[in-house]
Amino acid sequence: MSRILLTFALVIPSLTLAGIRHFPEAKTWVLETEGTSYVLRADSENRLLHLYWGARLQEQDYRAASFQAAGEEYPAWGGRINVEPCLKVNRPDGVRDLVLRYASHEQTGDTLILRLKDIRDDISVELEYQVYESYDIIRKSARITNGTGGQVTLESVQSGLWQIPAAEQDRLTYLAGHWGREFQVLREQIHQGAKVLESRIGKTGHYLNPWFAVDHGDATEETGAVWFGALAWSGNWKFTVERTSDGRTWLTGGYNDFDFAWPLHPGESFETPAFYGGFTSGGFGDASQLLHRWERDQVLPDGHSPHPRPVLYNSWYSTYFDVNEALLKKVAEIAATLGVELFAIDDGWFGRRNNDRAGLGDWEPNPEKFPNGLGPVIEHVHKLGMKFGIWIEPEMVNPDSDLYRAHADWVIHFPGRPRSEQRNQLVLNLARNDVKEHLFGVLDKLLSENRIDYVKWDMNREFTEPGWPEVPIERQKTIWIEYVRNLYDLWDRLRERHPEVIFEACSGGGGRIDLAMLSRSEQVWTSDNTDPFDRLKIQHGFTLAYPPKAMMAWVTDVPDRLNQRTTSLQFRFLSAMMGSLGISVALEKWPEEDLAFARKMIALYKDIRETIQRGDLYRLASPWEGDLTANQYVSADGKQAVVFAFRHSQQFRDTFPPLRLRGLDPATLYRLRPIDEKVTGDSRTVSGAFLMNHGLLLRLVGDYDATAVVLEKLGSP
Ligand code: GLA
Repeated sequence: MSRILLTFALVIPSLTLAGIRHFPEAKTWVLETEGTSYVLRADSENRLLHLYWGARLQEQDYRAASFQAAGEEYPAWGGRINVEPCLKVNRPDGVRDLVLRYASHEQTGDTLILRLKDIRDDISVELEYQVYESYDIIRKSARITNGTGGQVTLESVQSGLWQIPAAEQDRLTYLAGHWGREFQVLREQIHQGAKVLESRIGKTGHYLNPWFAVDHGDATEETGAVWFGALAWSGNWKFTVERTSDGRTWLTGGYNDFDFAWPLHPGESFETPAFYGGFTSGGFGDASQLLHRWERDQVLPDGHSPHPRPVLYNSWYSTYFDVNEALLKKVAEIAATLGVELFAIDDGWFGRRNNDRAGLGDWEPNPEKFPNGLGPVIEHVHKLGMKFGIWIEPEMVNPDSDLYRAHADWVIHFPGRPRSEQRNQLVLNLARNDVKEHLFGVLDKLLSENRIDYVKWDMNREFTEPGWPEVPIERQKTIWIEYVRNLYDLWDRLRERHPEVIFEACSGGGGRIDLAMLSRSEQVWTSDNTDPFDRLKIQHGFTLAYPPKAMMAWVTDVPDRLNQRTTSLQFRFLSAMMGSLGISVALEKWPEEDLAFARKMIALYKDIRETIQRGDLYRLASPWEGDLTANQYVSADGKQAVVFAFRHSQQFRDTFPPLRLRGLDPATLYRLRPIDEKVTGDSRTVSGAFLMNHGLLLRLVGDYDATAVVLEKLGSP
């Protein structure tokens, strides 16, 4: 009898649809991408278990294999659960025990929903999965529904848990920093005890970024198994990394449960942000290539646009608050001759904004600086053939502003308590719908009345005293989430009304960069630190998680403001050309020689930007490891490659071994177009095999020396 049943089970076809496979007889679901499998099973007690995530398995394994004893896919706090829970609730009767069991499933296209329900009450969770087959990435999120007759309070709600297969040891890689020092790469062994990465300041934060990678202690840039992921949320978030006693790493992520309480009334649902995860056997380099491709195609709002990111001029580091019509017109004329395509006025153009002590909130042009409004500058810039853009910081208000004088109650505050200022400003409570509608009106008017092509949306402080006195006490802690949801709504509606406008997300540099912002902004401001040497590390870390196409990088004047370092214009340009290029310099003071050099570099950038913005990035030499940083980009069609190399500080007359390239076709010849004589050797036509196995000879000497070479694919030898 059992043999008959077994045979029967083996011949039932699996129901396959777009990477999601269901094996009903085994109560098993598989999220399958080109290179990975993610296996879930409901056991005899209907506990939904996570069985496996990693390199792709065979169909036979999904049905029959003995997997290591597994943990629950979405452990709620109840029963015997003592790890970080994905969900914790409280009920009116004080019962906090929640035990979830598989109830049903639904599959549509590339999306799978698994429904879980408490063993007693109608409190249910829908786990939603989406598969991005060709990117080896999956998306997970959860929706909690209160089907009971009483109010339930959610005390922690996570998007999901990633379980890494057991190994002797695991390492966690993450991105940390502070203002001017974003995206520094930290890597450490995962021991017992929870490691928490989080934000408690209302925004994504400079301090930690919601991205992770886990490996078994042996992955390199080019080799090894790497599990990686990122959360699409721009408010308080939290990752909890735990090591189980049987050698697995569990990484739970979602809304931060710090200062969190969400009242869920009968019939209401509550949704988490999306948590994305991916796997590769090809090291950290391949992990970021997968992410970049997916982000370019699926996340960035201009994914399918054929237009590259335009070369930007921004006024900030040249004029700070001293912008005015005459100066900007003059600078715009010079910028246009250099090949700049987008001319942007940064801070200082509105209200009584002559320094950072006044004006935020009053989004009308300053009458002394722009007596005729923005119109004449915009027209001038457009006539010169460039797009026009401005800086705004809509979520903020200076106490010295007309808006604050009229609506002091609109800021985030606790009644009768101090309102801490940062950069002389307070945060408008965007969780309030009246505040949101006010901002929508102001910004919509600004964009409708002026031909603005680009907006840099800044957010220069953290939340403090996070009170929302206008709503019942039970709802006051929802401010953390309602604020961000309304921010997204505001941003989305403006994008919808003004689809031609390019948006850039900024937050005192890179303080609010995450997948949710990336889905609403063509580009992001990476860091206020524009020292081209510091940028090598910042940009290296950024590219672990986010794509070079969105990474704004500017050339600024020397000595650099932060480190007082003087570097050559070539070093500065090459460092900035590894992302989306901008300049923020006092062009009106530049000698003709520098202008000519800038013209040449901008022309070169336009020639290679398709490769940089839409190609694959190979990090050849890390700024964290030696005296050389080198990056290579290969165009999507493989016809062009570009190599950038930077020497930090030579000692002992040391030279470099040849720089071995990657991602080329070994059997094809490439023509080398070095930008100068620092790529040595006479031969300008070499094979991909030579470049990848022997490598390029570089002569970079002294301090802060840099070069670049363009490779054009010729064909078979
Ligand atoms: C922030 C941004 C800068 C600049 C200033 C203007 O610091 O990161 O790029 O826009 O604000 O005040």
